[in-house]
Amino acid sequence: MFSKQVFDLDCRACKRLDGFLSKVKHKHPDYHARPVAPFGDKNAQLLIVGLAPGMHGANATGRPFTGDYAGLLLYEALFDFGYSNQKDSESLGDGLKLNNCRITNAVKCLPPQNKPTGPEINQCNHFLLEEIKTLPDKAVIMVLGGIAHNAVLKAYGLKLSITKFGHNKKFQLPDGRMLVSSYHCSRYNVQTKRLTREMFADVFITIGALVG
Ligand code: URA
Repeated sequence: MFSKQVFDLDCRACKRLDGFLSKVKHKHPDYHARPVAPFGDKNAQLLIVGLAPGMHGANATGRPFTGDYAGLLLYEALFDFGYSNQKDSESLGDGLKLNNCRITNAVKCLPPQNKPTGPEINQCNHFLLEEIKTLPDKAVIMVLGGIAHNAVLKAYGLKLSITKFGHNKKFQLPDGRMLVSSYHCSRYNVQTKRLTREMFADVFITIGALVG
């Protein structure tokens, strides 16, 4: 579905991540344990950029945020705001379809402790750049967390100081597209109430006004 420029299932460019995925596959032979492809509408006006696959979620199922705790709030919001046909995202065969929306990750492989290194984020950045190039002119890019925010700025060749990450903050990118930032919907952020359902909904209201 995606060109090799946008996604490469065989990418082994990051030695540490490649080695980690081999160990994970050995321990969990039924897990996907490879780079995780973007998921959703090819002509989407909304691109959501997460951090990286979660161990027992996206890394296991092979679909971003699917089976991840972080996916609970995300997929619920996507359904509530009309971007999908169902609230839950459990497995590849669950019938979920996204409308006018696609989800990708700044780093396509599971990193140890959910923490990709700077060089790994940079190494993976060319995929994000190529994916952004496929978006329609009026697209909106929603970033989940500061790492995804910075990865999008890097993909545009912008200095990170040009705009600081903040929740429900908008920034116009040089090509006119809008960047909308949100706290990441991680288990930690949700359970500590750093990100509530209402705060997350506010971001989708902001996006709705931009997507039209
Ligand atoms: N799962 C993903 O695919 N991405 C995240 O950022 C978190 C969990």
